[in-house]
Amino acid sequence: MNNQPIGIFDSGIGGLTVAHAVNTLLPQESIIYFGDTAHLPYGDKSTAAIQSYTIKIADVLLKNNCKVILIACNSASAAAYQLVKEYVGSRAKVLNVIDPAVQYVAKKYEGKTIGLIGTKKTVSSNVYRKRLDKTNSDIELKALATPLLVPMIEEGFFNSNISHSIIENYLKDPSLQGIEALILGCTHFPLIKNEIEAFYNSDVHRNVEVIDSSMIVAEYLKEYLRKHDLFSSGESVKHTFYVSDYTRSFAESTRIFFKEEVNLEHYPLWE
Ligand code: DGL
Repeated sequence: MNNQPIGIFDSGIGGLTVAHAVNTLLPQESIIYFGDTAHLPYGDKSTAAIQSYTIKIADVLLKNNCKVILIACNSASAAAYQLVKEYVGSRAKVLNVIDPAVQYVAKKYEGKTIGLIGTKKTVSSNVYRKRLDKTNSDIELKALATPLLVPMIEEGFFNSNISHSIIENYLKDPSLQGIEALILGCTHFPLIKNEIEAFYNSDVHRNVEVIDSSMIVAEYLKEYLRKHDLFSSGESVKHTFYVSDYTRSFAESTRIFFKEEVNLEHYPLWE
């Protein structure tokens, strides 16, 4: 048993899709969420910049006594997971959103061809390819950077003609053909999962599983907490949501990502 909170962070509010899945599967756990809205998006930033932000955020989460730090951002997981893990050391456990998805596809799609969409950072880092290689699953991975999708979602363009046409344009790209599953390699993308599924449910492309890793990550976390005897007793559960830059529009969008109203607190990373 361990009643300390779980720290979850992202470049902004996209990681709230992961926080929501964690809250659904593990309602007895307290969550401290940190959205680095001052530095959003991470997908176009250098590795060095992302690493410096994530170390600062790890400090905030450690100060808040988190037992686990879950990097709920693919771009940050790609650029800074090892560094954050080394930095945090024995003070907390550090998890990322890539390992659970890799574990899932390695089991289910051995010897098959699958796709990945994500930010430029995630795709150019080749992190999914490298982790898949360690599983010996003989999976062919076809990856495409889809940089328009994050700003599109942030601006509220989903389930609209604009989003349909941008999504279709990306998914029709020759580099993504012949796949049996598609990993949504960005924590913003669960919000457009239904539109991506609609594309694949059309006559031409059948049987492509669209993999939203938020629930897979939550299940991985649950198993991890069980294994390490870190479950909370569920007394006085409290969630706290920090952002490094507060705007009304962030506050309004949190409802879409977390599926319920949250109280965002401003917590500047650099004073
Ligand atoms: N949510 C981030 C991810 O999973 C993408 C947003 C960004 O570029 O900061 O990669």
